[in-house]
Amino acid sequence: MPREIVTVQLGQCGNQMGSVYWQRLCAEHGINKEGILEEWATEGGDRKDVFFYQADDEHYIPRAILVDLEPRVINNILASPYANLYNPENIFVSKDGGGAGNNWAQGYSAGEKIYEEVMEMIDREAEGSDSLEGFMLTHSIAGGTGSGLGSFILERLNDKFPKKLIQTYSVFPNSQEGDVVVQPYNSLLTLKRLVNHADSVVVLDNGALARISADRLHVQTPSFDQTNQLVSTVMAASTQTLRYPGYMNNDLVGIIASLIPTPRCHFLMTSYTPFTSDQIDKAKPIRRTTVLDVMRRLLQPKNRMVSTTPSKTACYISILNIIQGDVDPTDVHQSLLRIRERQLANFIPWGPASIQVALTRKSPYITTNHRVSGLMLANHTSIASLFKRMLDQFDRLRKRNAFLEQYKKEKMFENGLEEFDDARATCEELLKEYKACESPDYITYGAHDGDPAS
Ligand code: GTP
Repeated sequence: MPREIVTVQLGQCGNQMGSVYWQRLCAEHGINKEGILEEWATEGGDRKDVFFYQADDEHYIPRAILVDLEPRVINNILASPYANLYNPENIFVSKDGGGAGNNWAQGYSAGEKIYEEVMEMIDREAEGSDSLEGFMLTHSIAGGTGSGLGSFILERLNDKFPKKLIQTYSVFPNSQEGDVVVQPYNSLLTLKRLVNHADSVVVLDNGALARISADRLHVQTPSFDQTNQLVSTVMAASTQTLRYPGYMNNDLVGIIASLIPTPRCHFLMTSYTPFTSDQIDKAKPIRRTTVLDVMRRLLQPKNRMVSTTPSKTACYISILNIIQGDVDPTDVHQSLLRIRERQLANFIPWGPASIQVALTRKSPYITTNHRVSGLMLANHTSIASLFKRMLDQFDRLRKRNAFLEQYKKEKMFENGLEEFDDARATCEELLKEYKACESPDYITYGAHDGDPAS
């Protein structure tokens, strides 16, 4: 029985990265731009039904819901060769059409107005699944729609489907050159919902994506399309074991359970290697791809898609390497031994210090120059340094009481700005918990919550 996943794409960023992701899934499964299975795609053994369903005329249709408060991006998708891929009933563009003006509060309030219509689409997809596993949400946390409307949808999804998993692919803004002046407010308000209402958040940091484009691919100022190629490679690799099942990690709950031992520390970072010229223009060729090389590169901080500040105490809570290609399992064993001997990965002192490895098949329809490629999904305490940066930026803006007028116009902030304080407190708690994770006493962390003597 398929364990279906419904994808909800929100705002400019969410829809643009979603659209590149679906193009990639189509290529991997031999589905053409119209949703029809290519005649040569006869290899089988893949699970298309996790992410697609078949219409009466056999077309494959993504289990995707496209939502935006302004029409430009969705119009572009509908003017592209993939226009007929999507179910038109699953596309929502707000009638006002003005977007959320880069304002979280405006996006959140829009949620209250459009809730019925969007939820009906989500319900229809959920009911059309045999055994729905959960939801995947794609968005950015810096603008107004992906962050504000995304926050609203997260709260409601969690409320309506408490037993279903929610995983988000969340684009964090480039901290160096924020393109949205109020992004520290928007980001922190969204972070609160990501902490409280998502089961797992794959953090994609636009700063790190730009750095990887420059260092590894020699593209100094990548377009969103190029950045989204990196993102879609990661999304496709992290769902590879669901789409090409083997012995383990065949469902999302298995992957999440192995990576997230405690519920709040659920922010994952990723590394991928090698990015090849098949996936992005001007890629730098990498000559050797043995399993050990791939695993070693995955552990190098420069390959992480999150820019973190180095710290002596930071450590891995867990690692799952998804290795694709022509691999002998004994190579994997040898590589893990070498990595352990050389102490290349520092783990938490209170849990098993091991890298988990899932070997998975590659799509037979995509040719690459490399024998082996790999994705690392990691839970690492240094991700807290990203949250700390966000908190500092928030404090600087908040201290000046800057740009608050637009927020005060919306219902949630009419009577005060407690929501800002609350989001700040959630972020501080999260920082504290990641810090505590680095100590052997973490097992008892939070055990005395509510006890005034503690
Ligand atoms: P409004 O424009 O206010 O309605 O909200 P929105 O959610 O549509 O805004 P958007 O998604 O444009 O969010 C802005 C943030 O997303 C900025 O940090 C951008 O750099 C980033 N961003 C926008 N589009 C993309 C994209 O296609 N890929 C990536 N990686 N980042 C994007």
